Amino acid sequence: MTKQRVLVAYGTKHGATAGIAEEIGRVLDEEGFATEVVPAAEVTTVADFDAVVLGSALYMNHWQHDALRCAHRHADELARRPVWLFSSGPVDSSAEQHEIPPVAQVAEELEHLHARGHVTFGGSVTAETPGFVARSMVRHGKGGDFRSPEHIRRWAQEIGAELRADEAGPAKD
Ligand SMILES: Cc1cc2nc3c(=O)[nH]c(=O)nc-3n(C[C@H](O)[C@H](O)[C@H](O)COP(=O)(O)O)c2cc1C
Repeated sequence: MTKQRVLVAYGTKHGATAGIAEEIGRVLDEEGFATEVVPAAEVTTVADFDAVVLGSALYMNHWQHDALRCAHRHADELARRPVWLFSSGPVDSSAEQHEIPPVAQVAEELEHLHARGHVTFGGSVTAETPGFVARSMVRHGKGGDFRSPEHIRRWAQEIGAELRADEAGPAKD
């Protein structure tokens, strides 16, 4: 049987979200899917994929603009296939402790795209993150890398399980 093709696209300013997308891609590869991980700005079509995972870093409660543009540019095609969205993320352990609902803008996209699910992962701001706000956060002890590989892997495995169930078709009794 040919492998289902899954696109994992991401919006990032400073690279932390690329790491999350890579991890999702790795898990889906391990689970037997043919996975491509690409920056959202480079997505020219989603028509070649059976399913799409689209995510972004949050800045002031909004997705990074490449990810949002990607969602809008491919809205029709996305709405016709299984789609999951993710956001990152709080620079503390809150995302691991409880489910964090999507911000208003992302809740709208979830509805438009008929997405199957959304998760918020922890984010990362470290001494290497450029920008005044990031520097100030780190200086005041509010930085750190809160991306949890376990959380990311668990979510990606759930996606894999759902896609496999789709492929198997409705259970017969
Ligand atoms: C200026 C600034 C604003 C941020 N705003 C939010 C926010 O509104 N909500 C949130 O959960 N995280 C926020 N964060 C944390 C980032 O989303 C987090 O650091 C993320 O991992 C960055 O991803 P990137 O490196 O892929 O750009 C903010 C970080 C900075 C530096």
